[in-house]
Amino acid sequence: MRILITGSNGLLGQKVVDLCLSKGLPFLATSSGENRYSKCPDSQYQTLDITDEANIKVVFDQYLPTHIIHTAAMTNVDACEAQPEACDLVNRQAVYMLAKASLAIGAHFQLLSTDFVFDGEAGPYKETDQPNPLSVYARSKYEAEQLLQEVDGLNYSIVRTIIVYGQGEQLSRSNLILWAKEALQEGKPLNIVDDQFRAPTWADDLAWACVRICEMEQTGIFHISGPETISIYDIVLRVAAYYQLPTDQITRLKSNTLNQAAKRPPRTGFILDKAMRTLNYKPHTLEETFALLN
Ligand SMILES: NC(=O)c1ccc[n+]([C@@H]2O[C@H](COP(=O)([O-])OP(=O)(O)OC[C@H]3O[C@@H](n4cnc5c(N)ncnc54)[C@H](OP(=O)(O)O)[C@@H]3O)[C@@H](O)[C@H]2O)c1
Repeated sequence: MRILITGSNGLLGQKVVDLCLSKGLPFLATSSGENRYSKCPDSQYQTLDITDEANIKVVFDQYLPTHIIHTAAMTNVDACEAQPEACDLVNRQAVYMLAKASLAIGAHFQLLSTDFVFDGEAGPYKETDQPNPLSVYARSKYEAEQLLQEVDGLNYSIVRTIIVYGQGEQLSRSNLILWAKEALQEGKPLNIVDDQFRAPTWADDLAWACVRICEMEQTGIFHISGPETISIYDIVLRVAAYYQLPTDQITRLKSNTLNQAAKRPPRTGFILDKAMRTLNYKPHTLEETFALLN
């Protein structure tokens, strides 16, 4: 097995690097720009812009991976709404280029996707439920999923996930749990919606599932999330309760008062039966993971 990771500077990418190192799995970490993860040896890192087809070909032909774990993406949903062309290039067109390059060397291609492919009217969702994306980001991810079926002969998996959280180094953006914990500790005001329901996912659990799918040569769609679907407001309250932080700075809001550029699905969450049965996936609870955050 030789794993090529895209987006290794991102939160999930860093966790996949950790796992490959701890399991002794051969890997090449790639991301845009310089290596920003201190635990990833520079000798196992290469800059790869996933929107550059020639760059993809050179890196793939040199390393000859057997599996590609494709975590890189434009992940800020409101930025995607404002820049639909950039979003389409990174989240859809690049996937097609990477998938074709994977086929050419006979490698398994794994795409990271999102609960946002669903409209949130009937969560929690199973893998066979019908998507209905509501935003530019969500559509780009769903179209990327569909493109994989068009690459004849491609061996692929799709891992959909929900609000990924955990600790990383020099991340380009924070994540809900870390942000809430820091804001509560600093006594900053927090405006939190109570009408969006999600199953937050510990990045280490997600990385474990991504690698496990590759190791087991599984294909098709997998729903991978935390075990519990609750409102964003309740997630923040759980952070406050665990760390014994005051909640008087939290204001409870409805989504329609926020004026966010991208429309969000009200209630997602995943039915995890397939992952539990096939992969023996056992996600950690929020409190189990809080104990591991600094
Ligand atoms: N985070 C969530 O809550 C969530 C929820 C559902 C699905 N997902 C999906 O899960 C995956 C991993 O998410 P994450 O939270 O780990 O994302 P992340 O922390 O935002 O990391 C994404 C990485 O992709 C890299 N990247 C962006 N454009 C690139 C390009 N043209 N070439 C090479 N690398 C590029 C970024 O590099 P820079 O750091 O240099 O910008 C970043 O390191 C994504 O596919 C995302 O759509 C995430």
